[in-house]
Amino acid sequence: YFYDALGSALFEAICELPWYRITRTERALLERHRREILARVDPLSTLIELGPGSGDKLAALIGAGDTRAPGPTIHLVDVSAAALALATRTIAALAPGLTVVPHQATYESGLVEAMAQRASTCPEPGREAGRALALFLGSNLGNFDPPGAEEFLIGLRASLAGGDTLLVGTDLVKPERDLVLAYDDPLGVTAAFNRNLLVRINRELGADFDVSAFHHRALWNAEASRVEMHLVAARQQRVTIPGSSLAITFAASEFIWTESSYKYRPDQVVAMLERAGFRRVEQWIDEADGFALTLVETT
Ligand code: TRP
Repeated sequence: YFYDALGSALFEAICELPWYRITRTERALLERHRREILARVDPLSTLIELGPGSGDKLAALIGAGDTRAPGPTIHLVDVSAAALALATRTIAALAPGLTVVPHQATYESGLVEAMAQRASTCPEPGREAGRALALFLGSNLGNFDPPGAEEFLIGLRASLAGGDTLLVGTDLVKPERDLVLAYDDPLGVTAAFNRNLLVRINRELGADFDVSAFHHRALWNAEASRVEMHLVAARQQRVTIPGSSLAITFAASEFIWTESSYKYRPDQVVAMLERAGFRRVEQWIDEADGFALTLVETT
């Protein structure tokens, strides 16, 4: 719901903020360890990124100088048409003749499409005929609640074949001050990203939210290990959403809980992946910024 054209543009802006370090740190980890990552997934025939955004991180992993066609078939899965178009251009520009297949779809259905295409060209995938590497970066795993994350990983595992691999990027628990600043920046870009949900509901569902009567709030819920983003009603108000046949009265300070971003410890990420049917291959950690890249393969 966040990623209409304006939401995607605002998110790209968030990634440039000094207070939001996830994207920058993850890209640096991918650049630093790309040779090792690629060696560990060899022979690679299929590369799938779930939610590539701008495509910059995938480009960092593939490496501009080293890429030659044909290379692995690259599948990009994103709900945002704007992000998908951008990422497809970014990746196609790396080398002439690369096969890039965009899927404007949810993670689950895009992955099923990608794997069906792979099965039609490669009847016996695996260690000899070529492995798949799925990328799930940006700490997007943290936007599921923990049971949902595990269920999602189990589904992901079911779509992959024996010997296939998965690289997951997760933000880690760190001092509260840093966590809150990342989701409540002094420039108000994250606030705009959050409130854009109301703009979108007004436009697409014919609602009458007074966008300026809701303010952005980000808080660290230590017990649940998550940053919560809220939209807080500044005063009592009534909102109608005809497209959803809803009429809602908000009391002053009542809020809409729009997003959660769960933060993990490195060992918790591995344990969750193991419960979903993967085995650990390697984990790379940026201690200074608190971020982990975890590479696993199917068991
Ligand atoms: N997965 C990223 C994160 O949790 C991106 C994200 C989702 C995000 N919702 C967000 C970033 C809200 C900023 C604000 O950080």
